Amino acid sequence: MQARAPLMIEHRLIERMLLVIRKVLTEIESKQRVDPVFVDKAVDFIQVYADRTHHGKEEDILFRELNNRQLRTKDRHIMEELIEEHVFGRQTTKALVEANTRYRNGDENALTDIAANLQTLTDFYPRHIEKEDKEFFPSSRNYFTDEEDQAMLAEFWEFDRNMIHEKYKSLVDGFQGQQ
Ligand SMILES: [Fe+2]
Ligand SMILES: [Fe+2]
Repeated sequence: MQARAPLMIEHRLIERMLLVIRKVLTEIESKQRVDPVFVDKAVDFIQVYADRTHHGKEEDILFRELNNRQLRTKDRHIMEELIEEHVFGRQTTKALVEANTRYRNGDENALTDIAANLQTLTDFYPRHIEKEDKEFFPSSRNYFTDEEDQAMLAEFWEFDRNMIHEKYKSLVDGFQGQQ
């Protein structure tokens, strides 16, 4: 298995979640309301799975290794775009969390912001995934020997191994911080 395989498998789950969000967007449109608990769960998926676990492997391992190499201008440019898109995704998710808090506190107008931010995520994310799957990952592979690619794959598994512990430690930290 090549190192990019787990990243691409993760893309497929993110795409399935985007389909779920699209369906909920249609319901928001027709019913003019949303279940804030769904938004919480979508945010958790985006922050813990798509951002921390998935972007974490991309940025902390793949991009870090690529940074140590002489990239072609085009590849460096795409990598910078991808990093900016990760930042944009985080900002959109933050705005979504804020809108959900306002909605929960009775601000009906916040529904428009929840829908707009969910829509933004479903619009930009598929293009980001396609850029990585079809363009960036294949050209990145050329900068690594087979051994280097396998070393990255091993580091990916190690990164994943820590994620469940990080998630629940942060949950407990959060509860204790609130006391
Ligand atoms: Fe990415
Ligand atoms: Fe990705």
